[in-house]
Amino acid sequence: MITQKPCYILAIESSCDDTAAAVLKNDLVLSNSIANQSIHKAYGGVVPELASRAHQQNIVPVVDQALKKAGITKKDLNAIAYTRGPGLLGSLLVGTSFAKSMSMALDIPLIEVHHLQAHLLCHFIASDLPVPTFPFLGITVSGGHTQLVQVDDYFSFTELGTTLDDAIGEAFDKCGKAMGLGYPAGPEIDKLAQNGNPNTFQFPIPKVPGLDVSYSGFKTSVINFLHKHTQKDPDFITNNLTDLCASIQSTLINIIFEKIEMAVAQTSISQIAIGGGVAANSGLRNKLNQEARKRGWTVFLPPMAYTTDNAAMIGIVGYFKFRKKQYASLGQAATARMPL
Ligand code: KG4
Ligand code: ZN
Repeated sequence: MITQKPCYILAIESSCDDTAAAVLKNDLVLSNSIANQSIHKAYGGVVPELASRAHQQNIVPVVDQALKKAGITKKDLNAIAYTRGPGLLGSLLVGTSFAKSMSMALDIPLIEVHHLQAHLLCHFIASDLPVPTFPFLGITVSGGHTQLVQVDDYFSFTELGTTLDDAIGEAFDKCGKAMGLGYPAGPEIDKLAQNGNPNTFQFPIPKVPGLDVSYSGFKTSVINFLHKHTQKDPDFITNNLTDLCASIQSTLINIIFEKIEMAVAQTSISQIAIGGGVAANSGLRNKLNQEARKRGWTVFLPPMAYTTDNAAMIGIVGYFKFRKKQYASLGQAATARMPL
């Protein structure tokens, strides 16, 4: 009997404000470490220069922790996978340079990973959960992106629609900021919305052709609405916070849901996998589960640990590429913008 040796991959993610490292043994996650950067809270959003400095400080301890938790040493590694883009260039450069140096020092292959492909392929990390079969509709809902994608296999992604302006997570965060919530506001809105009535306040759904979406007009209408009401009643936000959160959240979800419905009709694909930070949102998860039951769709929701930015998702793409020997060269530069 031929037994194949397992492959150990170290994955590094540093595209925005989380420094993350994971170790995978084939498709199994042995460790998934992350250092969040609290420094941005004081500014109400990510400050790119501060993010890259914090990555510099965090990367060595985070990688060290991932290796220790996995119970291996760097000598056991077979490849290094890293996020090449898209993201903040200064942040990407830290992970990219670190990954390149480590692959050179250990003389093992380097594998570049597209951050948005990773958000969708996190569903293939070994677990007890069912996995999508190809083709499926991938819905990326994060702080930087909102995309509807047809995924034909591990390496074939076609963008069907995208946001014309702000991403859904950005809209959550900016609406939250306008209500005086901290950064990122998405998780807080989610929690508050659970005690509110989503029908209390009505906000318009923008009319955008095709499968594209827009969140900027909605965000502005929320800011204007809050401004108008607080002029009359300074306690308007405090007195209506849960209903405001529930109404805002349900509109943000309805905007993308309308397009998911259209994408299913257009492609006849009814397997839907979501990914990205906003995939943690309980309102979105509940709505997708309910609608799936009604409509006969199959919906795949990632485990919470793989919704917001993490390195395990980079590792699973690394594993698929490793099997195909799709290695990167040392000359491949980090890129802030990167087509699917
Ligand atoms: O995927 P991610 O970690 O980073 C990007 O690649 O952008 O997503 C971060 C975004 C933030 O906008 C954050 O507010 C949002 O995900 N988020 C949520 C929830 N958890 C994180 N939004 C709504 N509800 C949540 N539970
Ligand atoms: Zn992300």
